[in-house]
This record gives sequence, C-alpha cells and structure tokens, in this order.
Amino acid sequence: MKVAIGCDHGGINLKSALIKHLGKINVEYTDFGTFTSDSVDYNDYAAMVCDAVVKGECDFGILICGTGIGMSIAANKVKGIRCAHCHDVYSAKMTRLHNDANVLAFGERVIGAGLMQEIVDAFLFTEFSNEERHVRRVEKIKALEK
Ligand code: RB5
Repeated sequence: MKVAIGCDHGGINLKSALIKHLGKINVEYTDFGTFTSDSVDYNDYAAMVCDAVVKGECDFGILICGTGIGMSIAANKVKGIRCAHCHDVYSAKMTRLHNDANVLAFGERVIGAGLMQEIVDAFLFTEFSNEERHVRRVEKIKALEK
C-alpha cells in the first residue's frame, strides 16, 4: 500500500506525527508537502495528493490543514476522489466500508496525534464492503461527476 500525504502550514506538525506513524506501521508514502511553516494555499496540496490517487500512483491520500475542511472541500472537487473529513475512528472506518472513500482529511487544530493514529489505522485497514447497496450508492456518487 502507498499513501499520498499533504498539508498546508496549519497541518505541518500533525503531518510530521503522521509520517512517524506510517513508518511504525510500515506504510509507504509520498510526501507532497508543504515542508515549511510559511503560509500556503491548501488547495494546491489537495490537488497534488488527489492527482496521485486518481492516477493510481497511490492507493489513498491523507490531507491535513487547520480544520481539515478546506482540504476536504477542495479534494471532493477532483473527479474520482471521495474525500472523508473525519475526526473520529467510527467515521473513518464507516467511510471505507460504505463510501469507499479514497482520501482522508482532518485538522491539526482539532485532534491530537494519538487520535489521528487511530483514525488513520481505521481508514487504511478497513476494506470497502462489496454489498450491493453500497456499490450502487458509490456508483451514484460517481454519476454526479458527469
Ligand atoms: C489556514 O489558516 C486554514 O484556513 C487552513 O489550514 C484550513 O483550516 C482551511 O480549511
């Protein structure tokens, strides 16, 4: 499994904690930045991470900003992306099971590193339920992109 990760200046510390965690759980990643605390536009990082997911270079994306909201709004504008904004473990698990989400977004100003790790594990290690009703609903999400 390979994960594309990205943040703005509001998410840089939690991205460092995420990188440590991905190392511990042996998950490969590509870090699209940002790499300094200079103010940047979250949209640009969402675009790079989502592009890697849509092209199949990475299986999942993880986006961090101050709240996770800007990142998730921007990511969900990209065709092929289903980004879930999650600050609890239950939602992270359910969005994989029911929505086949391929990008996760959260906010450094909202959650700490401990909860972030549990959310990331739930997201990365839960498979999409292939039950017909969930497949049908995800297909209807895809139809909205046309
Ligand atoms: C940056 O100050 C902040 O607006 C950004 O990190 C994010 O929270 C936007 O949704």
